[in-house]
Amino acid sequence: MANSGVDVKRRRFLVASTSVVGAAGAAALVTPFLYSMSPSARALAAGAPVEVDISKLEPGMLQLVMWRGKPVWVVNRTEEMLAALPGLDNRLKDPKSEMPQQPEYAKNEYRSREAKYLVLVGICTHLGCSPTYRPEVAPADLGADWKGGWYCACHGSRFDLAGRVFKNVPAGANLEVPPYYFEDEHTILIGENGGAA
Ligand code: FES
Repeated sequence: MANSGVDVKRRRFLVASTSVVGAAGAAALVTPFLYSMSPSARALAAGAPVEVDISKLEPGMLQLVMWRGKPVWVVNRTEEMLAALPGLDNRLKDPKSEMPQQPEYAKNEYRSREAKYLVLVGICTHLGCSPTYRPEVAPADLGADWKGGWYCACHGSRFDLAGRVFKNVPAGANLEVPPYYFEDEHTILIGENGGAA
């Protein structure tokens, strides 16, 4: 695959600024840390689907959008990120996403419609904090066996790069995959299943 040369240990923690467009076509620019409650944003908070342009989402990057007032992450996973997932199964509580929490297209080893693009609700399944994206491999604070994922600082829950929860942490379930589908190669609509749940 095209990203095989990426050095995962040097992967930067990049969070893209995000363009959010409501289904009706109203547009609002947001950043991960500044969310303006314009009228269109209020409509989004009420439940309207959110259209996400992923054309500038580089390998390894996380793009944050807001949907129904919740953070939703879209991650462009590299080949190295995907390759790390199968070997983690025996360390996870629900490696096959069998809990009745997920859309059908999350029940595969990548938990996604397309392997490299992961879409998750960014809320810890323990008590609702928002975990931190930690894509680097074996950082000192997370240990030599860390292959990348999310760490929830509130009570120490850990999730892999498919949002699957590890054993021996407080959270009991994998991070939620919201309804979504690809409108085209560069556009994801979050909030609807597109007729294929
Ligand atoms: S809220 Fe994330 S570990 Fe408790």
